[in-house]
Amino acid sequence: MQDSHATGGTPPAPPAACAACARGGAGVDRRAFLSAATLVAVAALLEACSAPGGAAFFTGPLGGQLTVKLSSFPALAAVGGLARVDGGSGAPTALVRTGASTFLGVSMICTHQGATVNVVSNGFLCPNHGAEYTATGVWRGGQPTTSLATYGATFDGVDTVTIARPA
Ligand code: FES
Repeated sequence: MQDSHATGGTPPAPPAACAACARGGAGVDRRAFLSAATLVAVAALLEACSAPGGAAFFTGPLGGQLTVKLSSFPALAAVGGLARVDGGSGAPTALVRTGASTFLGVSMICTHQGATVNVVSNGFLCPNHGAEYTATGVWRGGQPTTSLATYGATFDGVDTVTIARPA
């Protein structure tokens, strides 16, 4: 016996309408259902990419050399201190005091998908998917990715540190 589809014959009749459809449109047609399901899936995806407290993704030029007055950032008075120092100019950038007279600039652009990471007590945390970095930008947990970019920093011995941030 052959299948009627294989022979090009008439396909079987669809099943009788459900009770909701028979009432005049209280049911959901297939197209409306798929459209609604797609919207739900997209909304879930967007939420995953910008979790509550999530940061914007940085795009644009990094901003070039950055001069920092240590007296403006009390957190940098002690070795191990860490602070965001860009003041909104160029890319989000942090400075960490690695020694009495040594510093390191650290990019705050997450290497996973480019969100701005936050300074936390012992390093950085990405609010979007949870990548964690040490104060010197080394990836240490959470979302697998690579370490943050770092920039050389020069201390004048008094109050000024110049970070060699790329343009
Ligand atoms: S953007 Fe995904 S962990 Fe930072």
